[in-house]
Order: sequence, then structure tokens, then C-alpha cells
Amino acid sequence: MSRGKFIVFEGIDGSGKSTQMDLLRSHLESLGLKVYVTTEPSSREIGKLIRRILKNEVTVSEETLAALFVADRLDHIQNQVDGMLQYLDKGYCVLSDRYFWSSFAYHGLHMPISQVVEMNDICHEMLKPDLTVYLDLSAEESMRRILERNEQLEKFEKLELLQKIRQNYFIAFEKYSKDLLIKVVDANESIELCHEQIVSKVSDLIQNVPVS
Ligand code: ADP
Ligand code: TYD
Repeated sequence: MSRGKFIVFEGIDGSGKSTQMDLLRSHLESLGLKVYVTTEPSSREIGKLIRRILKNEVTVSEETLAALFVADRLDHIQNQVDGMLQYLDKGYCVLSDRYFWSSFAYHGLHMPISQVVEMNDICHEMLKPDLTVYLDLSAEESMRRILERNEQLEKFEKLELLQKIRQNYFIAFEKYSKDLLIKVVDANESIELCHEQIVSKVSDLIQNVPVS
């Protein structure tokens, strides 16, 4: 059986990743493809600990947090219950809300990006995205959408940090995207227009994926 495609959604908080993943899932399913949607931090034990850290319920150093994300990512890739490799091998298209680019952009705030890239080499070797969709939103608009949610703010949800994180994404794409396909979508556009752009990019990719 041919392997499914691995499509990663990236962008600062509130950039529309889950909205666009839902729409792409429906589109791919309507074409008869099998789709598995997942997210980082994962829903497993390491992911749960990370969520507590992001809510400031547990404190660890920035380096420890970056390392925990690598551990969570490895588990997300490999675990025998719902690991992404299993789904890809079964011919599913896997859509992930965030992957190693998030580590480069977010932990690059506190450590050299090159060091975060190095820590993630093992994930890069195990599983490379076939396509990364970057939803590009200004930090100001991101903050506006986050505040509208009316939820407690998480660790990185501050204007100045989001501005730097957005810059880090572009630095990372420029320096570390060799052989990797990145599609930047203007996330200020309407939900429908963003979706159309994503579908047009994904159509080329899925030519040979078997329908169920
Ligand atoms: P993320 O998963 O990146 O945090 P969401 O998909 O949850 O982002 O979207 C954050 C908020 O912005 C939601 O209220 C969503 O309805 C809204 N939203 C998403 N895409 C757009 C868009 N293109 N234009 C305006 N609002 C959007
Ligand atoms: P989440 O609620 O998924 O973010 P969003 O608002 O985009 O839906 O929270 C995930 C947070 O974790 C987000 O602020 C980015 C951060 N993060 C890292 O710091 N490093 C990583 O490697 C990943 C995957 C996420």
C-alpha cells in the first residue's frame, strides 16, 4: 500500500490552523481519502505535562520545555497506539496542528534556533513533512483573536513574543527548509480564500494516494 501524505499546519496562536485543518479534512474525505487529524502538544502523557507548563501550573527551564517537546514529538511519531507513522503506513493522510517548525520558532525565543534544530534532528530523520502550510497572521491580529476567545492567556500569548515568533518562523523557513515544501498563506484573507489556496497546493501532492 502506498504511504499517505504528512501535512503540517503552522502559524502563531490563533492564525486559523484548526479551522483550515477541519476544512481540508472534509475536502480530502469527500475525495475518498482516509484522513487522521492530530496535534502537538499531543494528547498523551508528555503532551499533558506540556499543557500544564503552558498554563503556568508547572515551572521548568526553557531548555527543559524544548526537550519535552522533542520527547512528545518522538512519541507522537512512533507510539504504537496512535503514532503518526502507523497511520501514514496504512495510507492515511495525516494533518498535524504544529510540528518541529513550532519548536524552532517558539524555543528560538530563548535559545539559538540552530540548537533547537539540532535537538529535533532525530524527528527530522524519522518523519519529514510532505507539505507545511504556514498561515501567516500579524501578531496584532493574532492577539485580537486570542483575546476574543476570552480564555486564560498561555505562556506565549503576548504581543511582543508573537512578533518575534513570527520572525523566527521566517528565519527557520529561510535557513532550514532545504528539500521541504512550504506554502505560505495570507491568514488575513477570508477562511474560504485560505482554504482554496491550500486545496490547490494539496491537490498536486495527493495524486497517488489511494482512495478507500
Ligand atoms: P488556531 O488553531 O491557529 O489557534 P483557530 O482556527 O482556532 O486558530 O482560529 C482562531 C479564531 O480565528 C477562531 O475564532 C476562528 O473562527 C477565527 N478565524 C480563523 N480563520 C479566520 C480568518 N481567515 N479570518 C477571520 N477569522 C478567522
Ligand atoms: P495551542 O493551544 O495548540 O496553540 P494554538 O493557539 O495555536 O491553537 O498551544 C500550543 C502552544 O505550544 C503554542 O503556544 C505553541 C507552543 N509550542 C511550543 O512552544 N513548541 C512546540 O514545539 C510546539 C509544537 C508548540
